Amino acid sequence: MSLVLGDDVESLLAAANPQPSALLAEMTEHGDDRNFPTLGPDAGRFLRLLATLADADRVFEFGSGFGYSAAWFLPALGSEGELVLTDYDEQNLAEAREFLDRLDPAADVHYEAGDAIETFERYDGPFDVVLLDHDKERYAEAFDQVVEDLAPGGVVVADNIMQGPVNTADVTDALRGGDPVDDATAGVAAYVERVRDDPDFETAVVPLGEGLAVSTPTR
Ligand SMILES: C[S@@+](CC[C@H](N)C(=O)[O-])C[C@H]1O[C@@H](n2cnc3c(N)ncnc32)[C@H](O)[C@@H]1O
Repeated sequence: MSLVLGDDVESLLAAANPQPSALLAEMTEHGDDRNFPTLGPDAGRFLRLLATLADADRVFEFGSGFGYSAAWFLPALGSEGELVLTDYDEQNLAEAREFLDRLDPAADVHYEAGDAIETFERYDGPFDVVLLDHDKERYAEAFDQVVEDLAPGGVVVADNIMQGPVNTADVTDALRGGDPVDDATAGVAAYVERVRDDPDFETAVVPLGEGLAVSTPTR
């Protein structure tokens, strides 16, 4: 994982925040071993906080990998909680099931293999929190669907606004009108413009993990 924050800030966060659970530490190691791009502990902790603040019962993830972000969300959900994981890769979802079963075997978790946007269409809303962490080229398309099914006071979070398949300088340049260097950069810049210019949403870009865009309806 490439981080936006410098080493000194990273060290402060590691010292100031509670240690992640043993299971999350194991999942971090698993991600590192696989060289798999999880969103990391700082973003994960922030997602859990957002879910708690939104009093979330229902969470939908576009792009769940092996369940790392879901493992941050799950403890924040109420007893009626429902968590939907999506991924193209069935092996990722099988690993997610193993990890999340250990975290809470009774939790209502759905593992949906296939395209996340098509899966979202099959579910009835509303969702309290939605995480976008799938193809960057399709973030804006996903957001257009999610707005229809977002609970009042709900939150949409998009990862990789600053790092990952993009970098901060390239996204900044694209937002200033430059030609995007690739499809991922074009997708992230289009997403930021989409949420920034929507009067029905309040959005803040937050430099945690690889950069998050956090949006909530204004009314
Ligand atoms: C960055 S990883 C997800 C990481 C996960 N949220 C975490 O923090 O550990 C992105 C995942 O999205 C999946 N993916 C990409 N585009 C997708 C799509 N359109 N539908 C479903 N899964 C997708 C990939 O297979 C990959 O596992």
